Amino acid sequence: MGGVKQEKDYVFHRDFTKSYPLITHGEGVYLYDSQGKRYLDASSGAVAANLGHGVGEIAEAMAQQAMKAGFVHTLRFETEVLQELAREIGELAPPTLNRVYFTSGGSEANESAIKLARQYHADRGQPGKHIAIGRWQSYHGNTMASLSAGGDIKRRKMYTPMLNHARHIYSPYCKRCPYGKTAETCQKDNTLACADDLERLIRELGPENISCFICEPIVGSQQGAGVPPEGYLRRIREICDRYEVVMIVDEVMTGFGRTGTNFAIEHFGVEPDILTFGKGVSGGYAPLAGMVVSDKLVDSLIQYGNGRFVHGYTFSGHPVSVAAGLAAVRYYREKRVRENGAQQGDYLFLRLQELQSRHAMMGEVRGKGLLLGVELLLDQEKDLHFPPGLDMAERLNQAAMERGAVFYPGTGTVDGILGNHLLVAPPLTISRAEVDELVQILDEAVTMWEEQIRASLQ
Ligand SMILES: Cc1ncc(COP(=O)(O)O)c(C=O)c1O
Repeated sequence: MGGVKQEKDYVFHRDFTKSYPLITHGEGVYLYDSQGKRYLDASSGAVAANLGHGVGEIAEAMAQQAMKAGFVHTLRFETEVLQELAREIGELAPPTLNRVYFTSGGSEANESAIKLARQYHADRGQPGKHIAIGRWQSYHGNTMASLSAGGDIKRRKMYTPMLNHARHIYSPYCKRCPYGKTAETCQKDNTLACADDLERLIRELGPENISCFICEPIVGSQQGAGVPPEGYLRRIREICDRYEVVMIVDEVMTGFGRTGTNFAIEHFGVEPDILTFGKGVSGGYAPLAGMVVSDKLVDSLIQYGNGRFVHGYTFSGHPVSVAAGLAAVRYYREKRVRENGAQQGDYLFLRLQELQSRHAMMGEVRGKGLLLGVELLLDQEKDLHFPPGLDMAERLNQAAMERGAVFYPGTGTVDGILGNHLLVAPPLTISRAEVDELVQILDEAVTMWEEQIRASLQ
């Protein structure tokens, strides 16, 4: 036993058609592979490594907690790190959201939120209220309730017969309004058709059947940083209140300073009933996510539900993950990471717009803070999309990786099938000089990618 068995690969890869560079270490915004190649991590991995790589304080906190107590069952005991992190997050969250429930990943966080919403109604004598409404062009995770409520056609297709009966409205996309409005007609009629469609669907299905509505305040991977129109989330809040529907905001990608505020919902002046978080909470150093729950829902659970949420995971509130989260949240505050992210985000936005003005295949630049997206088009002037199925965003990312930067490519931007985009979301600790380097690599990669596309069209 113990021999060298390098020829045989035992890893069940995410995609067996690809080969993956072997990463040996990371430092700041850079990752290094076994060939000594350096990659600027322009997407913070899966928009998780918000604090960059190699932060000693977080590694140290995890090691110390592992030495003290590596596993503590949260059905029986509490830990100091759990109490402390819950306090930190409760204080960052909107004022009426104060109780923090931990999970290992964002899918589990949304799964928990959807189930808590249903229990809330059942506890209060409305067991019929069980349907979750989500949105097309939104992603909430790959576990079944999260996948059902999400609207990513590509991820859902394989499992459609197994999904539950969640229903969907369209996500807003002002440039290509799925409700046929223009910015002018939308404002003139004061209709906000994209929000009012929620009311139509609730009435169609019967409010007595609807449990919750879930949305990303700024759509990450599906739309490439799609920002909703003015007043959208306020209108959604009003509709949820009118029909006693629990409003869940999925901040798994947008939380912890990613969009320039602690949580993206702050841009829109609304308080949800449940806010889910993940990714950035630990800066990606440990699997950690969760939900912050409003006093209204917690009071109801105590008053009508015997105080027990019928749910739970072995690794909820895992002490080492929570220690990573606590160290990360303190690091955000002490190093003013959010403030830096907001400032560099404004600068990067301008630099991307400037790049877009020089490249015929780059379209709208959008987003907030350091959650930015760029549409990719066959012809920006004619607003022509690439034919579906060509993976154009992935090809651009490959060109960027050759030059030493990694982005987050996406397809199906418009309707799940048509459209390509690139998500640009480097660590919030990035410096201005590193932003310049990111833009320079992207510029070179887009130039090469455009040339290849033009050559293939001739
Ligand atoms: C908005 C959003 N929600 C939920 C998830 C799922 O999180 P996880 O992959 O940690 O389960 C993601 C992951 O990309 C996400 O972007």
